[in-house]
Amino acid sequence: MSEAFDAVDVIVSKRERGELSDAQIDWVVDAYTRGVVADEQMSALAMAILLNGMSRREIARWTAAMIASGERMDFSSLSRPTADKHSTGGVGDKITLPLVPLVAACGVAVPQLSGRGLGHTGGTLDKLESIPGWRATLSTTEMVAQLEDVGAVICAAGDRLAPADKKLYALRDVTGTVEAIPLIASSIMSKKIAEGTGSLVLDVKVGSGAFMKDVHQARELAETMVALGTDAGVTTVALLTNMQTPLGLTAGNALEVRESVEVLAGGGPEDVVELTLTLAREMLAAVGRTGVDPAEALRDGRAMDVWKQMIRAQGGDPDAALPVARHTHEVRVPADGVLTQLDALKVGVAAWRLGAGRARKEDPVQAGAGIEMHAKPGASVRAGERLLTLHTDTPDKFDRAIEALDGAFYIAPDGSRPDLLPLVIDRIE
Ligand code: URA
Repeated sequence: MSEAFDAVDVIVSKRERGELSDAQIDWVVDAYTRGVVADEQMSALAMAILLNGMSRREIARWTAAMIASGERMDFSSLSRPTADKHSTGGVGDKITLPLVPLVAACGVAVPQLSGRGLGHTGGTLDKLESIPGWRATLSTTEMVAQLEDVGAVICAAGDRLAPADKKLYALRDVTGTVEAIPLIASSIMSKKIAEGTGSLVLDVKVGSGAFMKDVHQARELAETMVALGTDAGVTTVALLTNMQTPLGLTAGNALEVRESVEVLAGGGPEDVVELTLTLAREMLAAVGRTGVDPAEALRDGRAMDVWKQMIRAQGGDPDAALPVARHTHEVRVPADGVLTQLDALKVGVAAWRLGAGRARKEDPVQAGAGIEMHAKPGASVRAGERLLTLHTDTPDKFDRAIEALDGAFYIAPDGSRPDLLPLVIDRIE
């Protein structure tokens, strides 16, 4: 078949800061999915996009072309409205686990298609797979039935959802082109629009443990994604939230499930509870349920009931003991004072090195590995107390994890007041 364009012409056009036409974008995304545009050509184009950017029109068209590369799901047959949330990823970010059953307990169906972790941020599926028996893969029929019966599904995105993105994301990962805002926005939104949710709340993380290290970049990403969602008919809002320090007191798969269950039982760390409730209120507002208080559903056990049903529906035993790592190592507070900093990226890299994350997508993860934190920035601490507990099945990993923690925390003299960013920095709609 003769091709409508030449890949080199498209690359050169973007290299020279040109705007790609709709027809060029449709062709290049489709031809890449078909294997006609080679990986090295798409790498060059991705780098040109990273360096020279894209207009809003180009991003919208690129997103539409990625959606068109696969199937769109349709939940319009459900008896309840649908809402989903997406986080751009952070250390200790287990919010999906309590949030999905909580929102479902408030009468909204949540079709959460998730991924596995790569690098220092954990993947939701890896966390849930630490629950004995739980399976990530569901057919579309099973997913729709579970959404109708339970209201909550967290499962793996199938191969037919935006396959162009799957291929391009793997390429960006190895060519230094992940950080391009047009490519991140189109990657995330193509999957969420194809997933078929009626409304979407985006949690755009800002800080050392996030893709976006500063608020200006995060705001640009959030505004781009909100515009893409809104134009596609999905009610979309974004919160910019703090990822300077890890969320909650755990980073690691089973450790994070345990903490999420504490939240569902009405306890858990303050920041995890606050962000879960804030995102739940946004999701409920997006489908017009402003009169429903999600805090009530946490307090009275309805969210926990939905969690157990959701885990059982996917073969898991919500009451089974979670895996525990065989070895631990304590990092102790070096001096009396106030903990003013606990760096998300360094904690995330250390947890990853302990075995909680993977370097290549086919690597296994250790369910029990990770880090428990015993204090958060702002806390008063005493010399010799436990600050961090490192968990792993493979104790030869401790040295490299401890190296990653070099400079991860700072203890200021007693009476110091750390200058901390709020948990929710901004809201964009
Ligand atoms: N998550 C995605 O799904 N895509 C990106 O490009 C970045 C984060």
